[in-house]
Amino acid sequence: MKLALAADHGGYLLKEAIKSSLLAAGHEVDDVGCFSPESVDYPDFADKAVARVIDGRCELAILVCGTGIGMAIVANRHREIRAANCFDAYTARMSREHNNANVLCLGARVIDEETAVEMVRVWLATPFAGGRHQRRIAKFSN
Ligand code: RB5
Repeated sequence: MKLALAADHGGYLLKEAIKSSLLAAGHEVDDVGCFSPESVDYPDFADKAVARVIDGRCELAILVCGTGIGMAIVANRHREIRAANCFDAYTARMSREHNNANVLCLGARVIDEETAVEMVRVWLATPFAGGRHQRRIAKFSN
């Protein structure tokens, strides 16, 4: 699968760890930055990554900042995006199964690397359940 990946300075190190795990699992990664721990603005990187999901260059995106909150707020301003700020494997799984999330937001100051890597694995392995959940998504997708 081809994934867009982005972080600000708060998420930079966790993004690098996630990138390694994705590449090791055979995924293709389009890393839009940032590329150092130098202070940057999360909206610039969230917008770059979700643009790749919206235009079809990538299937899904993973965004990392300090809390995941800023990334999720920015990503969800795009009508095509369903970004979920998740905190454990359960919320990651449910965001796919019930919400068909196409963007996963993670907080590097909230979860540890092992948890984040496992969440990404679960998120990518979980299909959307459809049915009543599709009806609910349709209600806010016009
Ligand atoms: C940066 O210090 C921090 O505000 C950012 O990474 C993120 O947590 C914002 O939501």
